[in-house]
Amino acid sequence: QVKTGLTHLWNFTLFSQITSFMIFRRSFRCILRVGLTTGSYSVTMNCKVASRFAHTVMTSKAINRANTSQEVFFDVELPKTAFITNFSMEIEGVTYVGQVKEKEKAKKQYEQAVSRGQTAGLVRASGRKMEKFSVSVNVAAQSDVTFVLTYEELLQRRLGEYELMIRVKPKQLVHKFEVWDEHIYEPQGIASLDAHGTFLTNDLLPLVEKTVSDNKAHVSFSPTLEQQRTCPDCEGTLIDGDFFIKYDVKRDKDVGDIQIVNGYFVHFFAPSDLPRVPKNVVFVIDVSYSMEGAKIKQTREALQTILDDIHSNDYFNLVLFDHYVEFWKPSLTQATVENVAEAQKFVSGLRARGATDINQAVLKATELLYQDKKNKTLPDNSVSMIILLTDGDPTSGITDQKQIQENVHNAIQGNVTLFCLGFGYSLDYTFLDVMAQQNNGLARRIYEDSDAALQLKGFYSEVASPLLSEVHMQYQDNTVDSLTQSHFKQLFNGSEIVVAGRLTDNDLDNFLFEISAQGVNDIHLQGEASAQKWDVLFPHEEYIFGDFTERLWAYLTIQQLLNKRSKSNATSEALALSLKYSFVTPLTSMVVTKPQRDEEPEDMFIADKLTEGGHQSGHVELLGGLGCSG
Ligand SMILES: *[C@@H]1O[C@H](CO)[C@@H](O)[C@H](O)[C@H]1NC(C)=O
Ligand SMILES: *[C@@H]1O[C@H](CO)[C@@H](O)[C@H](O)[C@H]1NC(C)=O
Ligand SMILES: *[C@@H]1O[C@H](CO)[C@@H](O)[C@H](O)[C@H]1NC(C)=O
Ligand SMILES: *[C@@H]1O[C@H](CO)[C@@H](O)[C@H](O)[C@H]1NC(C)=O
Ligand SMILES: *[C@@H]1O[C@H](CO)[C@@H](O)[C@H](O)[C@H]1NC(C)=O
Repeated sequence: QVKTGLTHLWNFTLFSQITSFMIFRRSFRCILRVGLTTGSYSVTMNCKVASRFAHTVMTSKAINRANTSQEVFFDVELPKTAFITNFSMEIEGVTYVGQVKEKEKAKKQYEQAVSRGQTAGLVRASGRKMEKFSVSVNVAAQSDVTFVLTYEELLQRRLGEYELMIRVKPKQLVHKFEVWDEHIYEPQGIASLDAHGTFLTNDLLPLVEKTVSDNKAHVSFSPTLEQQRTCPDCEGTLIDGDFFIKYDVKRDKDVGDIQIVNGYFVHFFAPSDLPRVPKNVVFVIDVSYSMEGAKIKQTREALQTILDDIHSNDYFNLVLFDHYVEFWKPSLTQATVENVAEAQKFVSGLRARGATDINQAVLKATELLYQDKKNKTLPDNSVSMIILLTDGDPTSGITDQKQIQENVHNAIQGNVTLFCLGFGYSLDYTFLDVMAQQNNGLARRIYEDSDAALQLKGFYSEVASPLLSEVHMQYQDNTVDSLTQSHFKQLFNGSEIVVAGRLTDNDLDNFLFEISAQGVNDIHLQGEASAQKWDVLFPHEEYIFGDFTERLWAYLTIQQLLNKRSKSNATSEALALSLKYSFVTPLTSMVVTKPQRDEEPEDMFIADKLTEGGHQSGHVELLGGLGCSG
């Protein structure tokens, strides 16, 4: 049955893990994705950032002025690093609020709905930085619907800045108004702030209002209907693309910045002006058959530029592997102009061949570092790392993933940091992620796209300049009872260490802490902080939400527990916190139930978050009936 009449459709997109969305209804209509001409609606985005913790509320209202009922869509892209914390729909004056439930329970409800014969749809979408949240409801003639989605995330400092991103794909003009309103409050003071959009024309640019004063910033954008048009009388809109706010904070104090609010503290540590520590890096490059074509070409390109940038104090080597492991040199080599040129020549000859023996490649790279350490050919105080790039699962030599992880962990013994770059989707990302985590590093997905070489280069830039290693953040005994990670293998230039905790005493006057780390010069710092009354600390209420230190602590604790998912009590703790703080994490789902009149069954909506590793495809999957059916 094809539904007639217009579909009110709007689509507003904000920023990056993967959301799946299940929609249960008895019958699906064919949804016509056409522009809105009879209705009017608004889009508002309100974002508050308090000390890197961002809280965003998206509100959209649509009015159905037609004489027949219509399907209304709400599509939002949000950052993968964010957790949805609330969702509500107000339909014909009644508000339906989502509830965060254990994922398994939500799944059972889904299966029951299916077994009752209800048509169920599951939409999954993921991208590089964003995940998609979609919902559609049927709105009666002459009535309206308001959707409100809230999500939260901790902005991570990368390459010297924090980034807030809004993706806008409106598909049509926003008839009434469109407002984005961003308030940033950083007690340390804002050092720089830049706002730009991929779609901003010379006419739109002046509409971005930006004010920065000491520790506050406000950015807003609200074009009128006429200003949104591609041309006078056109129905097309210019507001289509990505909008970025990038900023950094001032760093006057070596000991970093601590805020204690309502019994929780957060400590940010990223000292400025530290000299870089020389590094020993072994690039372990997969040259198996599957790399043939664009991937090997992009890897060559990326390595050429990475080698151009490698610091002359650094030592490096290249290890190529398929089912066989080949070294460029028998030991690590200083990055002198001549050596770099020679390595670049070697790289230009990279060709794809053979199967994939990850185990042997990583073990040999580790041996190489050990041999040179023992021979004392590497600088004192240097930092050792392995950067593994692969596009597939182990297919040669030892192929049992658990066994490889164990072998690598036993060989590395905490002496080398392992970074794993997973190229494309034909690999088990979780395997790489776990292996990197076990060896103090991290995994990153490289998306198969025209800019893959840039992504590789970008990752290298983040780890190019180690400043400190073995960073220990210590807080006075007996004052903290639930601390997030406080030992960090390395601190890289441009990033930041964040530690949060719950205090045993709410009104602590002097909270003592110590930081020790190794660097070009070893450091040992002591500091003192005291609890703040947040109405004094944050006199401008619109800039902050009261319990941000507590939510930041919960967010960070859950993220770190999820990384230790192999330990069963970590999972149950992460679940309990997700439920308590209403976070849609990979362990929970948001369920919204909309009772129906006229004896129709209820509509049930479920939003899930999947992990990068649990997802095999970078594209929208449509399983079931969103579209035409019934
Ligand atoms: C709605 O219905 C009324 C009468 O039933 C009719 O006059 C009017 O033109 C209709 N409006 C639209 C937008 O179809
Ligand atoms: C979720 O949203 C609803 C409706 O907007 C609101 O009443 C409720 O207080 C929100 N819940 C939380 C935990 O913020
Ligand atoms: C760290 O990065 C900043 C730019 O973000 C740069 O100015 C500085 O020189 C870098 N320091 C080192 C030691 O590389
Ligand atoms: C380093 O030591 C190994 C034995 O441990 C030896 O075979 C190798 O030749 C030495 N390399 C250098 C560059 O000294
Ligand atoms: C690796 O670290 C351990 C301690 O964590 C140490 O005992 C061992 O000697 C180190 N191995 C090498 C080769 O540096």
